[in-house]
Amino acid sequence: MRAVGAKYEISTDQNRFNVGLIHDFLSRSYWAEGRPWEVVERSIRHSLCFGVFDGDRQVGFARVITDRAVFGYLADVFVIQEYRGKGISKGLMAAILEHPDVRGLKLLLLRTRDAHGLYAQFGFGPLASPEQWMIRPERI
Ligand SMILES: CC(C)(COP(=O)(O)OP(=O)(O)OC[C@H]1O[C@@H](n2cnc3c(N)ncnc32)[C@H](O)[C@@H]1OP(=O)(O)O)[C@@H](O)C(=O)NCCC(=O)NCCS
Repeated sequence: MRAVGAKYEISTDQNRFNVGLIHDFLSRSYWAEGRPWEVVERSIRHSLCFGVFDGDRQVGFARVITDRAVFGYLADVFVIQEYRGKGISKGLMAAILEHPDVRGLKLLLLRTRDAHGLYAQFGFGPLASPEQWMIRPERI
């Protein structure tokens, strides 16, 4: 648990998570549109997830898919509309990168359409050698 400013708390305790809110947001996002409840719930259960709370109310979320040793992939980052522009995602990023199971990872990846400026503040940049990477596209 970590405080963001004086007001918000960050927790990895999945018992506190509002899965309804998370599913509602993700299933309408540009990257996870239509993701079913069961998939959201399973993805949370098998990841290291971070919730941002205003009291008991969840206002933000992020998920690190990781072996907690070498590799991690940061995904599903959001702050609900009315709480945006207050530095919450920056506090969330700081908490994620300080977490003992993330701090020592050799490789941390993410993908974004337009939030490069957020992640750049935390050391992320473009792939140095994109020709060395491959992706198996989603198959419909
Ligand atoms: C992106 C998002 C998480 C930012 O959350 P937030 O708490 O409002 O952001 P903060 O107040 O912590 O500020 C974010 C910082 O990143 C910058 N930034 C860069 N790209 C941004 C973007 N696409 N959206 C918001 N901020 C962005 C902001 O300018 C700000 O920098 P500054 O304060 O140093 O000027 C939030 O807008 C959101 O949930 N958006 C919808 C979901 C989404 O796009 N998630 C990211 C998927 S990769």
